[in-house]
Amino acid sequence: MRILFLTHAFNSLTQRLYVELTDLGHQVSIEFDINDSVTQEAVNLFKPDLILAPYLRRAIPEAIWRARVCLIVHPGPVGDRGPSALDWAILEGVEEWGVTVLQAEAEMDAGPVWAAETFPMRAARKSSLYRNEVTEAAVRSVRGALDRLPDYRAGTWRPTAQVASPLRPSMKQADRTIDWLHDSTATVLAKLHSGDGFPGVADRLFGQGCHLYDPRPWPVSGSPGELLGRVGEGVVRATLDGAVWIGHAKTREGGIKLPLVDVFLQAGGLPELAGADPDIHYEESAGVGILHFDFYNGAMGTSACRRLLAAYEAAQQRPTQVIVLMGGEDFFSNGLDLNRIEAADSPADESWRNIQAMDDLCRAIITTNSQLTVSALQGNAGAGGAFLALATDFVWARRGVILNPHYKNMGNLYGSEYWTYLLPRRVGAERAAALIRHRLPLGTAEALRIGFIDAAYGDDVAGFTAETRTRAAALAVDCAGRLAAKQRQRAADEAVKPLDSYSAEELKQMQRNFYGFDPSYHVARHHFVHRTPHSWTPRHLAIHRELGWVVP
Ligand code: COA
Repeated sequence: MRILFLTHAFNSLTQRLYVELTDLGHQVSIEFDINDSVTQEAVNLFKPDLILAPYLRRAIPEAIWRARVCLIVHPGPVGDRGPSALDWAILEGVEEWGVTVLQAEAEMDAGPVWAAETFPMRAARKSSLYRNEVTEAAVRSVRGALDRLPDYRAGTWRPTAQVASPLRPSMKQADRTIDWLHDSTATVLAKLHSGDGFPGVADRLFGQGCHLYDPRPWPVSGSPGELLGRVGEGVVRATLDGAVWIGHAKTREGGIKLPLVDVFLQAGGLPELAGADPDIHYEESAGVGILHFDFYNGAMGTSACRRLLAAYEAAQQRPTQVIVLMGGEDFFSNGLDLNRIEAADSPADESWRNIQAMDDLCRAIITTNSQLTVSALQGNAGAGGAFLALATDFVWARRGVILNPHYKNMGNLYGSEYWTYLLPRRVGAERAAALIRHRLPLGTAEALRIGFIDAAYGDDVAGFTAETRTRAAALAVDCAGRLAAKQRQRAADEAVKPLDSYSAEELKQMQRNFYGFDPSYHVARHHFVHRTPHSWTPRHLAIHRELGWVVP
């Protein structure tokens, strides 16, 4: 089928559906929801068999849904209606939630139901629920809906009417306001989770209005509302019955979301509380060292790269046989921290520092002689973060993870992280060039087929991490032969072309991106960080807008 995605953005859910439906043999084209006439034009050009709206913020024009089947993915169970579906579910602490695929009609989320799935809720950020449970349920529902299309067309199946229910309003800041004197840790977390990543929770810190993000429960207590101290790049604030650590904030509408200590320099005056690095932790068992690193949004700034390198070097000193880079639950890594770069006095200088720190980390991993190394991707990886994963000897991923192993979307950024060494050695020179050029998301099935990863397993994060531990422990047994082979291979590769040459060539190009005449990288980063709404759909996504496109 020709399936047109009408969407607000090519976000993680849209990318996953794109990968799944393409894998099923459908031809998928994408149009961003910019303007009704542009949407109509896309429909006229592509003549889709089906229109799917995985992430839409406005209604589909009537002329379109009257003429063609338009299916909307709603992140709520049957009967739920409205734009803040997940926000309300988190705030109200429901135990089960779901995804419904509805046919577009005049009233929002009121059309007939084609498919629906439910899942147990988890105490987590909205963005994490969206990237995991909602995405998995959406994939199952959309597949179910597509299976019904032939019967619908034949007139032998009809969707069921949506349960009559009122449209729930968009959630306001007043609904999430934290009462620091009276709210328990669970309530504070639910409020913060309901607004994370967008729009955050409006609050005040150090006498200044701000939006808060990135909370975690913290095992201390104090007088409710009191700022108890600083841990890492965040602060700890007491609740009624405990405390929460808050990692990120921004001070104004249109401001940049940054680590809290960078937003409020006053936080530097708070006492430093004892406690581990909130972003990095190491564990060890059965000859396997596991390094967890859970940087907010997978963004790895200069200090994150340096801290992780120090933790990695410490892990190398341990008497283990295998080191597993476990990343974070939601992201493995998304490369350089573009927010911090954007906020720096000199974004070019900070980009340069950040890429050097990232390359130092990659190099330490590539040149590890003492252990076998594994990247275990619980969550998605993009740009430099996808190549960081390739620095290890083995790459394992949770089934369904989305990879974006390319840089070009960031203003034609050339990229470093030794990708010119790491990518061709896995997928061959031709395919490497195609991946970089096409700038499309890569699913785990295809990644496995082309050798980008070595294994894909686990239906959820818990299943994936459990199996990773078992596989890593098996690898640790009798690994001397593999270790010797890896050392020989590295020496042979070094003889053909030294790592220094790869990095020198890449960094020469990056220097041009950061300091050269063409400002594309700086412009693209600005738009990315400020989430500038799209004003057109890139050609590589909107295939119906390719020159010479004709309906097959
Ligand atoms: N630096 C800072 N923030 C980043 C980031 C990065 N490298 N990558 C992602 N984020 C943030 C986004 O700004 C967004 O923030 P918010 O929702 O809290 O406002 C959040 O992570 C989720 O990103 P989004 O783009 O919505 O996620 P996605 O899963 O739909 O898409 C990517 C994933 C990787 C395709 C996309 O985030 C991307 O292109 N990131 C930039 C990668 C890059 O070019 N890195 C620099 C070169 S190494």
